[in-house]
Amino acid sequence: MSEDKNPQKVQSMFDDVSSYYDFVNNFISFGMHYFLRYLAIRELKIEARSNVLDTCCGTGDFVKIIKRLSPKTKVIGLDFSPNMVKLAKQKNPKGTFIVGDCTNLPFGEGEFDYVTNGFGLRNIENGSKALDEINRVLKKGGKFLHMDFGYHNIFWSILDWVVPVLIRVLGKDPDAYGYLIKTKKEFPEPDELVKKMEEHGFRCVKVCNYIFGTISAQIVEKL
Ligand SMILES: C[S@@+](CC[C@H](N)C(=O)[O-])C[C@H]1O[C@@H](n2cnc3c(N)ncnc32)[C@H](O)[C@@H]1O
Repeated sequence: MSEDKNPQKVQSMFDDVSSYYDFVNNFISFGMHYFLRYLAIRELKIEARSNVLDTCCGTGDFVKIIKRLSPKTKVIGLDFSPNMVKLAKQKNPKGTFIVGDCTNLPFGEGEFDYVTNGFGLRNIENGSKALDEINRVLKKGGKFLHMDFGYHNIFWSILDWVVPVLIRVLGKDPDAYGYLIKTKKEFPEPDELVKKMEEHGFRCVKVCNYIFGTISAQIVEKL
């Protein structure tokens, strides 16, 4: 049976794990996740003074990196978990963050030059609606960067063993991280994902693979 991604359930799950979300990310990636995000965002080559929306911003790492790479850029982080947004604000005191739903973005057509989404799309029940919304708020020729687990390879399978053990050792919520493993398995591999994006009005610019494709970032452009 496919994983239940009921939005209320997903939202409250992320609210619940927010306090140790960064810690687990650092642990399971051996501290590499921030650097990999940096490499992927750098590929966007964000122009100065552009408008960027980071959807499913979580605790704000993407926003932090975007501001570091392009200080004159205006970035908004959006997430539907109030606790995640609160932490994002603490980590980026000067940043702009809003609580909002990726499947119903509170912005007009063509407001952004770039939209990013890190490890978020996989958690959205109606991913097609989210892609349509991202396409809508982008300018023509604007770019969308999506990053998540990539090809279902051996490194990727190791996580299936490491994560449950870690969660048990830490005494944290095993359901939330069982959910991570299930959604990761069900989520399309990068090539299939790019095809899906193409069905939603994008053309592929670049696919960047890290750690033998265990993590992948796709950059697509609005037609
Ligand atoms: C795995 S976290 C990723 C957070 C962050 N982008 C990162 O790279 O660490 C997924 C995030 O997506 C958010 N999310 C899931 N569905 C959403 C939706 N429909 N609208 C807005 N945020 C959503 C969750 O609240 C959570 O913070």
